[in-house]
Amino acid sequence: MSNKVTKAVFPVAGLGTRFLPATKSVPKEIMTLVDRPLVQYAIDEARAAGITEFIFVTARGKSALEDYFDNMPALEDELRRKGKTDLLETLQATNMESGTIAYIRQHRALGLGHAVWCARRLIGDEPFAVMLPDDVIAAEKPCLAQMVEAYQETGGSMVAAMEVPHDQTSAYGILDVQEDMDALVSVRGMVEKPAEGRAPSNLAVIGRYILNPSVLENLNAMKQGAGGEIQLTDAIAQDIRGPNNVYGYRFRGQRFDCGSKAGFLQATVAFGLARADLRDDLTSFLQEIMIAQAAE
Ligand code: UTP
Repeated sequence: MSNKVTKAVFPVAGLGTRFLPATKSVPKEIMTLVDRPLVQYAIDEARAAGITEFIFVTARGKSALEDYFDNMPALEDELRRKGKTDLLETLQATNMESGTIAYIRQHRALGLGHAVWCARRLIGDEPFAVMLPDDVIAAEKPCLAQMVEAYQETGGSMVAAMEVPHDQTSAYGILDVQEDMDALVSVRGMVEKPAEGRAPSNLAVIGRYILNPSVLENLNAMKQGAGGEIQLTDAIAQDIRGPNNVYGYRFRGQRFDCGSKAGFLQATVAFGLARADLRDDLTSFLQEIMIAQAAE
């Protein structure tokens, strides 16, 4: 089995209930951070890590997401005719080469593990990445590229990891650490959404994974885990056979939980401030409202 990672799975079949009513008609992954949908950030990160095949696990009501990846030759012509080269370049940078993007349906939202399992035939017998577009990671070197580099050294499955406050561990998959080697930790167990006080650490799994195909076999059992869902963390944990088998990787970068309203708003401010064309206006606006709030 080659250890080159060329395929990424994007599970986007969740219901997105935390963003109701918007998600009645707008898939969460199409929601816009400054001027690009969440899914574009994930695609760019995947490309930067050498991914060449993109597999989306979608569901009913997500057709806007599929449309987003169509090329728009008529609009390109129009922008060219008007000399709007900047916009033309922005648009063309999102074009996907034909045949590199595939969609598969998850017919029922049975959990993240089940969503990944739905892509098993497209993945085949090779290591693959999984990316959750609602975890947006701002980093000098994109997170998945950091992980692919580490993975070339270690083999084994790898999950992105980050310390979270102890009182928030029950919202995450949590690592039981065997050995802490700085950026890398070897893992002896993983617990999805541990009950309060039962977390083995405060090192949480974030939505980037590089997985061996054996994880797909574990998912065949369709075992329900936390919340009655078929959990990806359980299938990865089942793969831990020795001390150097599954790793957590502490990535360098800032993660925003854009699956939550507070996280999405924070990301909007942070990404807005990072943009030269928006920084000044946004900074003065933020200063004004902070001063007004303090005076209240
Ligand atoms: P979340 O736990 O954020 O669930 O899923 P959700 O449905 O997207 O959002 P809420 O909690 O209702 O607001 C994490 C990731 O797993 C995918 C989601 O699309 C998201 O990318 N997922 C989850 C699936 O693809 N299928 C599932 O059955 C569950």
